[in-house]
Amino acid sequence: MCGIIGILSQKTDAPDQVVEALKKLEYRGYDSWGVAIGGKYIKLQKNIGKISQAVLVNDTTGNLAIGHTRWATHGGVTQINAHPHTDCLEKIAVVHNGIIENFQELKKDLENFGHKFLSQTDTEVIPHLIEEELRTEEDFKTALVKSVAKLKGSYAFVLIRANSNELWAVANGCPLVVGQSENQLIISSDILACKTKKVIYIPEETLIHIADEIEFSNLETGKPKNLKWEENKVENHEITPGKFKHFLEKEIYEQPEIIKKISQMDVREVETNAALIRHSFGTFFVACGTSYHAALAGEYLFSQIAKMHINLISAGEFANFRHFITDKTLLFPLSQSGETADVLEAAKVAVKCRAKILSLVNNPNSTLARLSDVVMVTPAGPEIAVLSTKAYTSQIAILYLLANAVAGDFAKAQCDLENLSEMLKTIFENESVEKLKKLAKKIKNATSLFTIGRGLNYAVALEAALKIKEVSYIHAEGFAGADLKHGPIALIEKDVPCIVLVSNDENKEEILSNAMEVRARGGFIIGVAPENNEIFDYHIKVPDFAELSSIINIVPMQLLSYYLAIARECDPDKPRNLAKSVTVK
Ligand code: M6R
Repeated sequence: MCGIIGILSQKTDAPDQVVEALKKLEYRGYDSWGVAIGGKYIKLQKNIGKISQAVLVNDTTGNLAIGHTRWATHGGVTQINAHPHTDCLEKIAVVHNGIIENFQELKKDLENFGHKFLSQTDTEVIPHLIEEELRTEEDFKTALVKSVAKLKGSYAFVLIRANSNELWAVANGCPLVVGQSENQLIISSDILACKTKKVIYIPEETLIHIADEIEFSNLETGKPKNLKWEENKVENHEITPGKFKHFLEKEIYEQPEIIKKISQMDVREVETNAALIRHSFGTFFVACGTSYHAALAGEYLFSQIAKMHINLISAGEFANFRHFITDKTLLFPLSQSGETADVLEAAKVAVKCRAKILSLVNNPNSTLARLSDVVMVTPAGPEIAVLSTKAYTSQIAILYLLANAVAGDFAKAQCDLENLSEMLKTIFENESVEKLKKLAKKIKNATSLFTIGRGLNYAVALEAALKIKEVSYIHAEGFAGADLKHGPIALIEKDVPCIVLVSNDENKEEILSNAMEVRARGGFIIGVAPENNEIFDYHIKVPDFAELSSIINIVPMQLLSYYLAIARECDPDKPRNLAKSVTVK
């Protein structure tokens, strides 16, 4: 994970520009941040905590700087483990994203040669390896290439050297993008940090040298790569929570409008992609986390509406099923960011098997979008809070359109989504919101909580539990109603909250029976349902629209999670230990 940035500027503002850029990269991790400023000596500043509060101290001018925002993988969240990392003599400083899988053996060898390591990170082997190569190799580029040849894993890094006005970078399995403006050259793990009009997305196995000119070469062969500048299509305007206190709250409230937009999606786009699904010999949904839950909802929607079975595989497990992938398979990855490492890995497996890729992303400029044959974009706009909310409901709404289009009923789906958009607004009415706030206060001290649903509400149960645990740190688990009695019911004791998701569908009676089983053991039953029921200890009223319950029922659960975070004094936008984009495997 982690965000990396390097800037070579004609002015002396590179360090401040790096800090500004890091604020845009913070979604990739916010355990610690650090900056190295180039010059005769390398000046380092590192801190734990969020970059949003960062200020550089002492002399912070310079025309060359690199920066990093960290999501800890190797080594705890400490100032010493914060990047940049250097060689023994602090002549080389490196910021790194990804994982060096063989760092332990490399570290041992380097220590035997007398190198002193300060941190527990895998990153630190990079500057020491180069330092070691430079003992026998005068040419820096050759020493760098020889060092990289020893690294195993997927990574990207940027480095500077003392006494040298240039940036070096390597892309090998993790994204890098270069941007150029009149007085700056930028290299970063994300286009969001490039406010330039022209950009180049760096392909894998590339060595980049930025000085007066930019040179790209193949990592292995050293041959020059001719990469073309393209227009930066990312709108780089400031995004604020507006009238809301937090992005999470704002993004939850945006959902009715986004669903309305989806109801107006271009019929040709949806029908062409529905035809792709219909004619493929096996379609595989792959996704992680919340996007996986959207895909699970999609599996049910395709089964119920299109009478089609879509295979669903957690992206990180997909490679285990590669034997079933042929050039007639359709891989259907879902990803808000389009940068999730596990999803990208699945897409690369599919590319190798020459399968077609139809992806559903919220970021049209993402690596996944560029790997795909066909891209559908959720019109949710940038999702800033680490918790995915509006991207999730957008994914399900688009899957609903696709499933209906496969069944030849696109117009009905459009109409349903338009109605849904209006229905969702009732969840945000004062009375309903107050009831959720009251519930949050009531259950805020629970140590464990369960969510159950059947059919379309099964995905809601999993997603509601994920939302609650991510942001409030209450231990929450979601189950299909039938599964509770196969073990988890042992955990139910007096007053343990159990959220029961009920819709007016064929699963209603059975899920209410499951709720009774929990109540009989003392559980506190919170019913999310169109009508109250005597089994419920607390009722959250939702609009009655069973076919779209995967969207309707999650919205109050998103709000409940938000109010639980507030009640427990947790940061709703940046929960501990998480990052918006999970860019390591
Ligand atoms: O960007 P993606 O949709 O690929 O991200 C997948 C998961 O990492 C993501 O949904 C994660 O579970 C969120 N924290 C959920 O709120």
